[in-house]
Amino acid sequence: MCGIIAYLGQKPARPILIEGLKRLEYRGYDSAGVALLGGDEIRIQKTAGRISALEDMIAGEASSETFGIGHTRWATHGAPNTKNAHPHTDYTGKIALAHNGIIENYATLKKWLINEGCPFQTDTDTEVVANLIGYFYKHGNSINGDTPADGQNKFEWAVQQALNELYGSYGLAIMCADYPDTLIGAKKGSPLILGLGENEYIIASDASAIVEHTTQAIYLADNEMVTITPTSFHTKTIDNVAVTKERKEIEFSLEQIELADFDHYMLKEISEQPVALQTCLGGRVDVKNARVVLGGIQSNVRDLARTKRIILTACGTAWHAALVGEFLFEQLARIPAEVEYASEFRYRNPIIEDGTIVIAISQSGETADTLAAVEQAKERGATVLGLVNVVGSTIARTTDAGVYLRVGPEIGVASTKAFTAQVAVLAMLAIELGRRRHLSTDSAGALLAELMALPQKIESVLGQSDAIKQIAEANIDRDNWLFLGRGLNYPVALEGALKLKEISYIHAEGLPAAEMKHGPIALITDGMPAVFIATKSSNYEKIIGNIEEVRARGGKTIVVGTEGDENIKQYADELITVPDTTEQLQPILTAIPLQLLAYHAAVLRGHDVDKPRNLAKSVTVE
Ligand code: AGP
Repeated sequence: MCGIIAYLGQKPARPILIEGLKRLEYRGYDSAGVALLGGDEIRIQKTAGRISALEDMIAGEASSETFGIGHTRWATHGAPNTKNAHPHTDYTGKIALAHNGIIENYATLKKWLINEGCPFQTDTDTEVVANLIGYFYKHGNSINGDTPADGQNKFEWAVQQALNELYGSYGLAIMCADYPDTLIGAKKGSPLILGLGENEYIIASDASAIVEHTTQAIYLADNEMVTITPTSFHTKTIDNVAVTKERKEIEFSLEQIELADFDHYMLKEISEQPVALQTCLGGRVDVKNARVVLGGIQSNVRDLARTKRIILTACGTAWHAALVGEFLFEQLARIPAEVEYASEFRYRNPIIEDGTIVIAISQSGETADTLAAVEQAKERGATVLGLVNVVGSTIARTTDAGVYLRVGPEIGVASTKAFTAQVAVLAMLAIELGRRRHLSTDSAGALLAELMALPQKIESVLGQSDAIKQIAEANIDRDNWLFLGRGLNYPVALEGALKLKEISYIHAEGLPAAEMKHGPIALITDGMPAVFIATKSSNYEKIIGNIEEVRARGGKTIVVGTEGDENIKQYADELITVPDTTEQLQPILTAIPLQLLAYHAAVLRGHDVDKPRNLAKSVTVE
């Protein structure tokens, strides 16, 4: 939920920190700060507001330190103000750190530290970590009397003592005024990556802040830490046991995270979907033989084809993709499937019979509720697969196996290309399982051929962006919208409502269209926008009836219909069309007009499309 970065090397650290924070700003942006260490003095510069506010604060002030820590915040404990901004120092002023995560036992530790005479300046859980390290560093012995091992770095030892007292999650970057050449990173439950440069090291919450300096990285696992000097690094557990970590190549390039000539990352990522889908499908679909090969789960496919039950679990947009997956597994593979909010699944003591397969879907691979659901499912004996976009993310490394979306970094907080890719992977999997069960090879081949044709069809939907902008403009002053669909387009209606809500702040509700009669139709007022997904499908006539019900009460119908369908025009006050495609694959096309509708509404309302208020790209807290 926050972005942390740290640099130790030969170059001035502060500009590197600031540029890195800008790449991490999508993770949280209510305050920002840096800690710089040169000689034996730690300088803290931090402020409420965006990183640009921090830049304004330090403008014109020189900085030569080659060691620093940076942080951009999404507040969990303590208001988003300058006092609570990171980095935080301990009560002795020797320790400074930046934290991403939540310390669940911070109140108990804070009480103990106060009893030990440690003063506190802020309302944050993070300051407890700083003071705990500072306490052990100052006293040189732990709560149970331990002292540093012979020759062990006292700073590193104090960090280990503190980390062993913490419950909750952390990604940490830590410095000590007495060790101007030592940076410590530690991870548990929140991401932390170590970038390996030429006599310089960067640790950060994700690779987007590292990739312009080096593509060589090490991904820390939970309960691991790294002690870094300008010429070396040592990875170990928080119990001081050395661990060997594999060097990995960061798999995306700088231009993939650059804005190029788009106004916003969200528009770039909506526009990338033809290419993103091609990349997601590439090398995995053999139309001629009606086969799908998903390397990451190839050894699980036989069990999947025999499973009696699939549980899909996710949050937000990924949960909407999971709903589409439920339809796909049941319609194409005839496998019973159900969808669970991860935040509910994890606390519900779920029933997991032998052979149950759980599929966790997450763009970031760091969503705390989804990660917890994965761990719960594994504890209960399920085989857990992950559909994840961020390579090396915690969920990707925690599931038994998985499929990467391969759509490149998704920076905009509102998920777009990840959603269509999640649906595409679920479709590939459902077709493969179906072919191994009841689906004829011809039917499977036809579905796969149509799937491969979708990138081109997406292009024609993107071509309607200006018309969609006009529809947004004509309705921009309306504060309540409905989104309605049936069958596989019901989850798309939910997704369209979420997109509009989260970036334009217009209230919207997604519903199965037939549900209108059971109460929500009372909401219809004159001119109220009701977005219908009414493409050619098995429930086409039924949804026409729902459109009529809304029109009869003065609602304004904005319809997503099928190209060439003349009949639908009479029911649409505004019409957006998508190319015809197989019903099971329609969500990949019908979601895109709704992404554009939300995007244009947010721009017209003057909001920060990529960093909407109160949100962050990766919800790594519960
Ligand atoms: C989607 O636009 C939102 N940003 C949010 O609902 C998101 O889908 C959800 O937080 C899940 O994120 P994940 O896919 O990274 O797990």
